[in-house]
Amino acid sequence: MKTAIYPGSFDPVTLGHYDIIERSSQIFDRVIVGVLKNHAKSPLFSASERVKMLEDVTAGLPNVEARSFNGLLIDFVRQNKASVIVRGLRAITDFEYELQLAQMNRVIAPEIDTLFLTTNLKYAYLSSSTVKEVARYGGDISAFLDPGVAKLVAAKYASVSR
Ligand code: PNS
Repeated sequence: MKTAIYPGSFDPVTLGHYDIIERSSQIFDRVIVGVLKNHAKSPLFSASERVKMLEDVTAGLPNVEARSFNGLLIDFVRQNKASVIVRGLRAITDFEYELQLAQMNRVIAPEIDTLFLTTNLKYAYLSSSTVKEVARYGGDISAFLDPGVAKLVAAKYASVSR
């Protein structure tokens, strides 16, 4: 059984993330989406809210689950008996950081590989940060997110500005 971890902040999960999750689920027997809790950026959604959103959007993918983690990604990968880390590459600007992360992880854990999937061109421009920027000023985010997630993001900003 080949298990892959797809780690990230997912604050919130976008259609670009979903595309990577769906394609990974066709390559691996089991995919665990790992939601980082202790990130330097202060997230809009709590880790449990982000896990719940991921569970909802991946409900139709039986071999995908979502879990939060703290600390080193490599420890989470090992705890879950996974052997591959999946990351999406949108553009060359992602490459330097992603390469550094992958090489660092490979030195710490030589038995674990990182697999890069190129983002679907439809979503190559998309990031959680830019979606939040649009939502913060009341813009339409429906082209970027699952409808349920878009509602939660809009509600979050509505409650913040109240
Ligand atoms: O979606 P993001 O924020 O680009 O995801 C970054 C993530 C979660 C993959 C990365 O920050 C991470 O793996 N953090 C856990 C700590 C760690 O293991 N860092 C790598 C060694 S420097």
